[in-house]
Amino acid sequence: MNLTAHYQEIAPILEMNSITKRYPGVLALDNVSFHVKKEEIHALLGANGAGKSTLVKVLCGVETPDSGEIILNGEPVTIPNPSDAIKLGISYVPQELSLIPTMSVSQNILLGQEPVFHKPLSLIDERKLDGLARKMLALVDLDVDIHQEVKDLPVSDQQMIAIATALYRQSKIIILDEPTSSLSSNEISKLFEIMRKLRQDGQTIIFITHHLEEVFEVSDRITILRDSVFQGCYEASKITRDKVVSLMTGKKGLMIKPATGESKVGQEALRLENVDTASISKNISFTVLAGEVVGLFGQVGAGRTEILRTIFGADKIESGDIYLFGEKVEIKSPLDAINKGIGFITEDRKNQGLILSMDLLDNINIGVYEKSMRFGLIQKRSLQKISEYYRDALKIKSNNLNVWAKFLSGGNQQKVILAKWLNHKSRILLMDEPTKGIDVGAKQEFYQLIRELSKTGVAILLVTSELSEVMGLSDRIIVFRKGTKVGEVNPKTATEEMIMSMTL
Ligand SMILES: Nc1ncnc2c1ncn2[C@@H]1O[C@H](COP(=O)(O)OP(=O)(O)OP(=O)(O)O)[C@@H](O)[C@H]1O
Ligand SMILES: [Mg+2]
Repeated sequence: MNLTAHYQEIAPILEMNSITKRYPGVLALDNVSFHVKKEEIHALLGANGAGKSTLVKVLCGVETPDSGEIILNGEPVTIPNPSDAIKLGISYVPQELSLIPTMSVSQNILLGQEPVFHKPLSLIDERKLDGLARKMLALVDLDVDIHQEVKDLPVSDQQMIAIATALYRQSKIIILDEPTSSLSSNEISKLFEIMRKLRQDGQTIIFITHHLEEVFEVSDRITILRDSVFQGCYEASKITRDKVVSLMTGKKGLMIKPATGESKVGQEALRLENVDTASISKNISFTVLAGEVVGLFGQVGAGRTEILRTIFGADKIESGDIYLFGEKVEIKSPLDAINKGIGFITEDRKNQGLILSMDLLDNINIGVYEKSMRFGLIQKRSLQKISEYYRDALKIKSNNLNVWAKFLSGGNQQKVILAKWLNHKSRILLMDEPTKGIDVGAKQEFYQLIRELSKTGVAILLVTSELSEVMGLSDRIIVFRKGTKVGEVNPKTATEEMIMSMTL
């Protein structure tokens, strides 16, 4: 046996040893070790704020650790900035995608490393550049116009473009930070196929997710963090789901199940009649009663988000009518919608949901200050109390309510948005993928809060790609396919297969 070859086979391609990283007031990584083998898919797990993103940011030069060592292919390395990481063959596809929205697909892929093919007269050979970009897209099996601006593409395509960029840079280690949170189940399967293919081609993949089914479906090994501390590294085939959950949460036997229950429905809260949105949805009619949770289900791209945006006045309505509490209304803008009692938890937290340079207390209370006024003065104590209530109810990881939202982990930011809208006391609440990026423990609390809200008479319109979530939470499900309503089903009598087949 060739010992060197054997050693190379079992030796980690990457060793991160005793990594510690402190932010002001927060110990994000406490002496963490992370070992990754060549050509494996390695899942990195932990609750919101556990330190997953911080650990991979250290690896790709976005953050500098306070102490610890990184050994790559047996050699100690320092990775002071992202371009060094790329040179060492490490690419990061972050939690919030960082493509440049107004640049084309091919410009994004080749960005920073455009090869120079000159034609005579020193003109750049655009055709060769395009050819290169196309080759990378073929590797991730994506068929889009490479001259299109990326902002016009669905998130799932943007995800693939980010991976194509990593491949173009000839990365050996590709880090995917919650890549599946905006993808439909079909798109997730496709992503997994690509991940397996990359593994076969010699790449190593680090994969962060909150969906344990995905972990067991695609990963070879699992590393778990809890509260900034390493909890262990396991072969996926040798650990149970329950064990993973208990290592992540520190609790035994936590089962996540949407909180089902009969809603006590009241009068009609929202009605759409023959609504055409500016994009693909046409001739949409449905009602939502006060106290009812109605799910909109369909593949990503079926037009569900557009419907929510249209109700909220963020997109123009082309034709048709919207009624609120039996009265025909014209919703001119999001502000108009808010004044009429509509709240909207958007999918895109970074751009639409939060004010990143405001603290938690202000983010949670924005728009509701009047409610805490007495004798014309804002009651600071009551704001404090409200914020503490939601922080604890949703397990937002922050002792200090005065920390800026931008310093929270991705999942904790999402929880602040939920808190803000729950606090708004809207009579109609639109939710687009509300549990995206939220860890298993906090999901349960959120489901419970939704149930309690609907009991108080709030009408909830819910878009989620998780079938179990829409089945568990909704009183009624409206199914869409390519912008058309194809039916309404009762989740208590319908099966998952039945609903899936309606969307195809
Ligand atoms: N720039 C920063 N400044 C201050 N604190 C930060 C900063 N970035 C992260 N933190 C804190 O470090 C801790 C770990 O955050 P990290 O983003 O690594 O969590 P995560 O495991 O990726 O969580 P999630 O699942 O929510 O994305 C959190 O408490 C977070 O608030
Ligand atoms: Mg994260």
